Amino acid sequence: MEIADWGKILLPYEQAVDELLIKFERLKKEFERENKHSPIEIVAGRVKGVGSILEKANRKNIPYDRIEEEIEDIAGIRIICRFVEDIDRVIQLIRRRDGKDIFISEERDYINNRKKSGYRSYHILVRYPIIMSKGKRNVKAEIQIRTMAMNFWATIEHSIKYKYSGNVPDDLQAKLQALAETAYNMDMEMGTVRGEIMDAIRIIEVKNKLVDKIRDKIERLHRDAGFEQLDEITKKFYDVYALNDNKQLIEFDEELAIIASLYKV
Ligand code: GTP
Ligand code: MG
Repeated sequence: MEIADWGKILLPYEQAVDELLIKFERLKKEFERENKHSPIEIVAGRVKGVGSILEKANRKNIPYDRIEEEIEDIAGIRIICRFVEDIDRVIQLIRRRDGKDIFISEERDYINNRKKSGYRSYHILVRYPIIMSKGKRNVKAEIQIRTMAMNFWATIEHSIKYKYSGNVPDDLQAKLQALAETAYNMDMEMGTVRGEIMDAIRIIEVKNKLVDKIRDKIERLHRDAGFEQLDEITKKFYDVYALNDNKQLIEFDEELAIIASLYKV
């Protein structure tokens, strides 16, 4: 394997990362579009640099001509969630695609089985088919799913390991292990306010739906029934809206329904 070949070798991995990024971004957008809490907070992706690929091959005694078979994370996708519970939902979303556009080859649960370092994350190793000019290629990719707290820890720990070339002093290692538990405790605590956040999202969702209903009723009253006190009703709507109370909006909507029935709309 010539060093000059790498650009070409990495091309399919780049395509796989690009496509997977779009797919997970779109999933996130679907939830947002419906004012639902998205289990996906941030999606990131990268193709491993040639330097890191060679470093990993050396570290694991992988012959250079076996790199593509043996290294699973040349293409890497990272999905960051707000809550630990969201991780399960993301796993379900990916499993539902298994055999369709994503082919799962292995799952590694480093959340229930955290690593000795303190590392927590859920990994799904996949084959992802892409179509290139010469036809289909099944690209290996690693999807890492973790919370923001897990990501924070992993990022810091990674830099420290890098700084010490893997030989982190014992006391620092112990400190990192303790910090991993602190991060996980925060995840657990955050889990207890998840319900509150879901409630807040639901309230906004109900409000937006009510506004659409009200707007539609007023529009039909005016357009189809010649209802004329448009300024008056608009002002009233804005006043009610400003109260920031869904109950008031519901009452206003009911009043409009009565007017509409009088106007036979
Ligand atoms: P390496 O960990 O790179 O040897 O890969 P592997 O083939 O043994 O697979 P593994 O599932 O152990 O890890 C895959 C990836 O998970 C790594 O490339 C890292 O991104 C991440 N990872 C695994 N262990 C740790 C860890 O202790 N700390 C951090 N920061 N990341 C880790
Ligand atoms: Mg490892």
